[in-house]
Amino acid sequence: MKINQAELIISAVSAKQYPEGGLPEIALAGRSNVGKSSFINKMINRKALARTSSKPGKTQTLNFYQLNEAFYFVDVPGYGYAKVSKKEREAWGKMMEEYFVTRESLRATVLLIDSRHEPTKDDQVMYDFLKHYEIPVIVVATKIDKLSKSKKAKHLKIIKDVLELESGDHLVGFSAETAEGKEEAWRYVTSYIQS
Ligand code: GTP
Ligand code: MG
Repeated sequence: MKINQAELIISAVSAKQYPEGGLPEIALAGRSNVGKSSFINKMINRKALARTSSKPGKTQTLNFYQLNEAFYFVDVPGYGYAKVSKKEREAWGKMMEEYFVTRESLRATVLLIDSRHEPTKDDQVMYDFLKHYEIPVIVVATKIDKLSKSKKAKHLKIIKDVLELESGDHLVGFSAETAEGKEEAWRYVTSYIQS
């Protein structure tokens, strides 16, 4: 997809700050540092619109990126980062739940999993949570550039098996370095924006 307009509309911490207008939204979800913000930048060809960091915990708010005045990518803080207090974890859970459970414009979620590792317990909980609320899931296996050709298919299969992906779910190997998987990811994302 050609992106002509990309703009951070708001960094929200609660529902009253979410943008109005009802444009369809695609949310990101995944562990801290898995590559959520990098995924957005690569998909829309902007080097640093979504702020990234080699240190986990960079994204702390729900960031609504409006694209082509037609839809949003919603970047969210990652989970599974050890160095957060119980209080911070609870605030995170509340903010995430409020968004995922109540947001009517949410069409699908891109769940990012590090292709090098088995999905964590947190990844499984997140996947099951999305399924429970009947939110369509596009699983994106990130950092696929770090795997040898022979290992790619094997690791994708592990992700499929551990999460117990259902037939309607999509799984894409993706690299924010090489753009591998970008067209495929756009095909799935577009299908949810247009439906
Ligand atoms: P939080 O905001 O902390 O939840 O992290 P995030 O999921 O947004 O991760 P972010 O996009 O900031 O990326 C984390 C680190 O992984 C950065 O150093 C990125 O450069 C690196 N990274 C992300 N995607 C890829 C990829 O596809 N390949 C490689 N090699 N590195 C990547
Ligand atoms: Mg981020």
